[in-house]
Formats: sequence, C-alpha cells, structure tokens
Amino acid sequence: MFKKIMSILIVGIMLISFVGCSKTNDTSTDAGTDVDVDTPAAVTTQVLKLSFNQSENHPQYKALETFGKHLEEETGGAYAIEISPNALLGDQRASSELVQSGAIQMAVVGNPIVENFNKDFAVIGLPYIYDSLEHQKEVFTSGILNELFASVSGNGFEVVGAFTAGSRNVYADKAIEKPADLSGYKIRVMESDTMKKMLDYMGGIGTPMAQGEVYTAVQQGVLEGGENNEVTYVDLKHYEIAPYFSYTQHLMVPDLIIINNNIYAGMSNENKEIFNRLMNETIENQFAGWNDSVEDAKKVAIENGATFVELDIRPFQENVTPLHNEVTASSEKTKKLYDEIRTLAQ
Ligand code: GCU
Repeated sequence: MFKKIMSILIVGIMLISFVGCSKTNDTSTDAGTDVDVDTPAAVTTQVLKLSFNQSENHPQYKALETFGKHLEEETGGAYAIEISPNALLGDQRASSELVQSGAIQMAVVGNPIVENFNKDFAVIGLPYIYDSLEHQKEVFTSGILNELFASVSGNGFEVVGAFTAGSRNVYADKAIEKPADLSGYKIRVMESDTMKKMLDYMGGIGTPMAQGEVYTAVQQGVLEGGENNEVTYVDLKHYEIAPYFSYTQHLMVPDLIIINNNIYAGMSNENKEIFNRLMNETIENQFAGWNDSVEDAKKVAIENGATFVELDIRPFQENVTPLHNEVTASSEKTKKLYDEIRTLAQ
C-alpha cells in the first residue's frame, strides 16, 4: 500500500514538472512577473522547458537565456523559457523524443540527431563544407535551409534555427598532424553514420557515443580521443584525458533548435512573429560572440596543460571527398543544397 502511494506521488510530481508548464501572470501590473491573481485579465504563461546538454557557461546557454528574457517581455508574459542544462533531462537523442511527445517543449540538438529523421540533413553537417564562421553564418541566415528545416515538421517538432558550434578538431594523447597519425585510433564521434564514415576516411576509427560518456571512455582506454570545439573540450575538462588538441578543423556541425509542433502551431501570429524575430537575432548574436568564447576556452585549456597543434588540413580534406560524393548523390535536394552552400562560400 505504502509503495502504491509513493508511486502515485512520484508520478504526480513528474506530471507537475513536465505538464504543468504554465503559470498565471497579472497583466494589469508588470507583465512577466510571477504574481498569481485570479482575475479575467490574467495571462497564463506557457513555460517552454528547454533541454540543453552543456553547462550554464556555454555561449548557447547564455544566448538562450537572453532570448527567453526578451520573449517573456515582448509577448507580455505569454511565453517564458526554462533551460535545463547539463543534460539533466537526458542526452540529445532522449531530449528530441521528449520534445516530440510534448513532455518538454524545446531542445538544442546536434544536426546528426535530426539527420535520423531526414537523411538530407547530412549535407549541412558534411566535413569541410563551410569555409569559415562567416560562411556558415551566411548559410544559416540566408533562408536557404528553410525548406530542409520544414521537411521534418511531420515528426512532432519544428526546427526553428541553427546555432554555430564553431569548428571541431581531433584531440587525443598525442598530436595528430596527418591521417596516418590516426591509424588504429578510436575517436569518439557524434551518433551518426556520416560522422563515423568521416572519421574512418580521415584515417582513424570513428566510434559513435553520447557526449557524456567520452571522458570515462578515454580515461579507461576504450577510446584514444574525441573531436569537438574548444568550448566543449574545456567545458567537459577533456584536456585532462586528451591534452593534444589538433586543428584538423574537419567539421562545423550545426546545433539545431527544435520546438514541439503543437506549441509552435498554437502561437498567435503576433507571438510567432516575435518568437521568430528574436530567434534570428539570437542566432546572429551567438555567431558574433563565438570567437571570444573560443579564446576564453583556449586560455583555460593552456593553463591546464593542453597543447594546441596547427597542421596542414589538405590531406584530411582530400580523404573525406568520397563522403561529399556519397551524400550529394543520395538525393536531388541534397545536391541542390550542397551547390547553394558552396556558392555562398564565394
Ligand atoms: C558540441 C555541440 C553539441 C554536441 C556535442 C557532441 O558541443 O555543440 O551539440 O552535443 O558537440 O559532440 O555531442
């Protein structure tokens, strides 16, 4: 009996935290404050729970925090954002499922997660497809990805934008300067076939794994290293287990911002316009602040004994060419998008 009461209580608490995502605000005073008043003028705030797999120090977290503040202000308290950092609500794959089912409302997920819903997404996560941060920004803000993003909306969520996560580089227990240096090296990649193939072409053994497991896997010798940007390398203290960070610059994987379909469809035109406008501004700002975050992260890594290695990327670029051919041959849409992305580089 006691057990039964306890399980009812636990389920109750979970329901309150997941479903009870609304609060009542008094619009007659300061919109967006948390005063509960039972008057007809009261506005119910839809709290958008957002799952984030990195820490509060991450520039994307900070960008989303500002986004949430402005969203609450501009919608007169109709919408607010509550970010759960550090993968507290699960890894990116689990979070995308929670958004689909409506248990939570938003998440930031790496492109490979959405690639599972439509293979065409592989093209925007191809190695060396972006020449620079500026080029990637141009691609993300030019509107050429709108059709691709809309293609997954039948799956219970919408892709409302893409953040940059800078360039990814290989890190291990030794400097990686050429493909042969990766021979026999198991390097963690994000959970995607394209990423695995990429690392294999680069000369190593791509090993798909969730980000949260990498530290221990390298420490225990299951992996020789990983690949990521400087910010995550430092955020997760990976310099402690893999102190050589080699500038292969092989990837600039988009981080996609997703929102539950019904929540998005349920917004008034006015609130949707505010949401989209603020999201676009947030993406621009996040690009603008990225290089500073990288410099800050590098300082911390160097203070902690990490070595940053410059190298000639051309042999790696040549090695991954077959992957470009494979992905562009997979559909007309992918080929078209590939050409459009490359055109924007010029
Ligand atoms: C980056 C990226 C994350 C991703 C992570 C990973 O940090 O921003 O979205 O989860 O890499 O390698 O898994």
